[in-house]
Amino acid sequence: MEYKNLIIEIKDGIAIVKVNRPKALNALNSETLDDIKNAAIELEANKDVWVVIITGEGEKAFIAGADILEMKDMTALQGMQFSQRGHEALSALENMSKPVIAAVNGFALGGGFEVAIACDIIYASDKAKVGFPETTLGIHPGFGGTQRAAKLVGLAKAKEMIFTGKMVSAQEAYEMGFINKVVPHEDLMKEVMALAEKIKSNGPFAVRLAKECINKSLSLDMDSALMVEAKDFGLCFATKDQKEGMTAFVEKRKPTFKGE
Ligand code: CAA
Repeated sequence: MEYKNLIIEIKDGIAIVKVNRPKALNALNSETLDDIKNAAIELEANKDVWVVIITGEGEKAFIAGADILEMKDMTALQGMQFSQRGHEALSALENMSKPVIAAVNGFALGGGFEVAIACDIIYASDKAKVGFPETTLGIHPGFGGTQRAAKLVGLAKAKEMIFTGKMVSAQEAYEMGFINKVVPHEDLMKEVMALAEKIKSNGPFAVRLAKECINKSLSLDMDSALMVEAKDFGLCFATKDQKEGMTAFVEKRKPTFKGE
């Protein structure tokens, strides 16, 4: 598929998706939101892709938010539709069965931070700055941020970030629980690739089913969630990878998973 504002590279089971509007600090206009949704659908269907990484083109920004120029003169109805367009894109990313890592290489603001927190794991450059500046513009997060932030770090910290609109360092965001790891700027992609390789070395269906179980915990009661866990656990035994993983353990060798 052709993408207007994304560059996608796939190598050895790992897809790197770069948001590519560096002149606008990779701001999310409607085209880019649609690109993200379509990329999530395409990469989900691609059997050769086991792990997805999303990052920003250029030295300065991951994504500096939704496109303010596009939003400036919107009506209330257009605002709602733009928010829903963002929801479709970020939910497509969040709902991928494959693990998705955000490599936050610079500013991740507003809708950009919302993209990052829709991913499973966030690694950030020590130069990155993140936040929800929407209230400074007279709006509030509209790409799922009011929901996902609170689930990730708790109500109080989410409210502090959103009400103040403050921009914080990657380190501060790490301490609040938004970010998994802060690394020296120049090492970001190396560290993210090492993480992706580590995840890729494990049984892919096991990782995907684990993701499903963990994500379900946010919306299901305990009994229903445990039922999903038991079914997914059982499903692992339908894969060749489970046989390989356990046989390799017994034979004292490293397993070779094939995603079958
Ligand atoms: N939308 C559109 N264009 C943007 C943008 C955005 N979110 N962020 C940056 N740009 C553009 C700038 O307008 C500028 O374009 P020109 O060169 O044509 O003037 C270019 O990117 C470079 O930006 P700056 O000159 O401002 O760069 P800087 O280094 O001085 O500042 C910054 C960097 C602090 C990130 C600043 O650009 C900034 O504050 N950007 C806006 C951040 C923001 O408010 N994001 C939230 C948007 S609202 C949202 O996301 C809503 C939602 O939840 C759905």
